[in-house]
Amino acid sequence: MSEKIKVAVLISGNGTNLQALIDACIAPNYPAEIVLVVSNKANAKGIKRAREAGIAARIIDHTNFSSREEFDSELSIILSNSQCKLVCLAGFMRILSESFVNTWPNSILNIHPSLLPSFPGTKTHERALEAGVKFSGCTLHFVTAELDAGPIIGQAAVPVLDNDTPKTLANRVLIEEHKLYALGLELVANKILKNKEADLHREQSTVSKSLINF
Ligand code: GAR
Repeated sequence: MSEKIKVAVLISGNGTNLQALIDACIAPNYPAEIVLVVSNKANAKGIKRAREAGIAARIIDHTNFSSREEFDSELSIILSNSQCKLVCLAGFMRILSESFVNTWPNSILNIHPSLLPSFPGTKTHERALEAGVKFSGCTLHFVTAELDAGPIIGQAAVPVLDNDTPKTLANRVLIEEHKLYALGLELVANKILKNKEADLHREQSTVSKSLINF
C-alpha cells in the first residue's frame, strides 16, 4: 500500500464534509487517511459517521473548559497523539486561538461556504442573498490566525437562482464543498508526500557525498 498522510477531522455537526473525506479515503491510491475525528459537540451526527467507518472518534465538549486556550491546548495534545500531519476543519464551528494555529502551521485546512474573501464568518448564505450576488460557492483554505483569511487552496462557484432561500443555496453549495474538499486534500497530501520524497533524496545524496569524501 502506498504511503498516506494521516489526517484528523474536526466537526461540530452533521459531518457531510467528513463523509465526503471518508468516502474519498476509500480509494486505494488516495494519499490521505483519517486517523481521528474530534467533535466539540456530543450530539454531532458526524460522530456516528466516523464510528460506522471504523475511525476513532472523540468528543471534547468545549463547555467543560474555562477558556478557549485551555480547550485548544487539550485539542492540540489529542491531535499530536494521533500523529496526524493535517487537521481538516469540516463544519467545526469554533474559532481556534492564535497559539493553536501557530502550533499547526500550514497544517490546518478549512472549508467555508462562500467565495472568500466575500462573506467570512457565519450566516454566509443569508448575507450572499441579501447582497444580491449572482454567484456564490465555497472555499477550501489553510487556516491562519485571521478568521477565514488564510491562503486559498481552491474554490468552486454555483449560480444563485432568483427563488433561492438560504437553505436551497446552502444545499447547492454543500454539493460542491464535498467535491472540493476531497480534491483539495488530495492535492495537499500529494504535495507533502512529494516534498518528503525530495527531502529523502537530498538526504541520501548528502550521505553518499559524505561517504565519497570519507
Ligand atoms: C458546511 O457548509 C461548512 O462549509 C460550514 O458548515 C457546514 C457543515 O456541514 N462551515 C462553516 O460555516 C465554518 N465557518 P457538514 O457538517 O455537513 O460538513
